[in-house]
Amino acid sequence: MAPRIFLTGASGYVGGQFIPNMRAKHPSYQIISLVRTKETGEKLTSKYPSVQIVIGDLDSSSLLVEQSKLADVVIQAADCDHLNAITCIMRGLSAGARNAPLIQLSGAASVLDICNGVGQRSPRVWDDGVDLDEILSFDATHVHHASDKLVFSEGKKHDVRTAIVAPPMIYGRGHGIKEWSMGLPWLVGMFKNRGKGFVVGEGKTIVSSIHVRDIADVLVYFAEQALGAEDGGRVEWGEKGGRVYFFGHVDVIAREMKGKGMIETAELDSLTSEEADQLHPWATFMYGSNMRICASRLRGLGWTPKQPGVIETVFEMLE
Ligand SMILES: NC(=O)c1ccc[n+]([C@@H]2O[C@H](COP(=O)([O-])OP(=O)(O)OC[C@H]3O[C@@H](n4cnc5c(N)ncnc54)[C@H](OP(=O)(O)O)[C@@H]3O)[C@@H](O)[C@H]2O)c1
Repeated sequence: MAPRIFLTGASGYVGGQFIPNMRAKHPSYQIISLVRTKETGEKLTSKYPSVQIVIGDLDSSSLLVEQSKLADVVIQAADCDHLNAITCIMRGLSAGARNAPLIQLSGAASVLDICNGVGQRSPRVWDDGVDLDEILSFDATHVHHASDKLVFSEGKKHDVRTAIVAPPMIYGRGHGIKEWSMGLPWLVGMFKNRGKGFVVGEGKTIVSSIHVRDIADVLVYFAEQALGAEDGGRVEWGEKGGRVYFFGHVDVIAREMKGKGMIETAELDSLTSEEADQLHPWATFMYGSNMRICASRLRGLGWTPKQPGVIETVFEMLE
């Protein structure tokens, strides 16, 4: 029987991209998608008719247990910090007979860094090869700390295989119901609303990034590994498009927006953290902090990203 993949977050930006990427490689695999409403389910099946829908949410405990028990792989691509979901999925996986793993889509926001001040560059690049012990010992001051730890501790407790995929900023047009993410599209919206671009502080932070279609490929790869369907795939994340001053992206966005008549000038204001946070409560967090990563362990598997870098995708974001 074709492998059965239980997917949460199927209507989201990354989960929605996982479906076409997986289908392109393994059209016979069953993808069982958790969605919150019947309407969302209908939107999803009109785009991907072969996808099966279960209606519920991350608090639908018995549903999560039951679906995870039946699955060959669970991909948690909804809210990664939802602890109940992790616990229930693990209960289901441990009760199942398929040695199925949990692949949890988390995030590299755990390494957000303003050690030299908001808007200033940090020299620290977090490498999941070299820095793994430190990353695994993060405390509650780090984003995603509780959920990442729970994935590993529940995995050990139930003897269930786990993988955490923790991407940095994700960019590019997705093929799911939700085509765009937060990061840069939110910035474009703010530039439009105030008629001018901005950076936080001096705008010298560096943020690694990965295209949505590349990160979806990483999830497909992990699923393949788990199922033993192929000898691998070639995985790397967080490298391409990284090592670029965040200002570099912002500058290109402002110039493209000016060129399209969306804003009056391509000049950028320098906002304080307080001013930026009045535009969006996460502005300092997202646009004034560093998030520099190096995915050594995936790179060690030999994979390289295939999709264009951030700057090459700015134009399509403004269409
Ligand atoms: N986007 C990025 O740049 C980025 C970077 C690093 C890490 N991540 C992490 O990756 C994960 C997915 O991100 P995304 O960008 O794909 O998010 P998204 O576009 O907002 O999608 C979230 C998905 O999860 C579903 N969902 C959320 N809460 C739920 C709940 N309580 N019960 C059931 N379904 C729920 C949403 O359903 P509805 O459609 O019903 O809302 C949607 O399908 C998140 O944990 C995020 O922190 C994202």
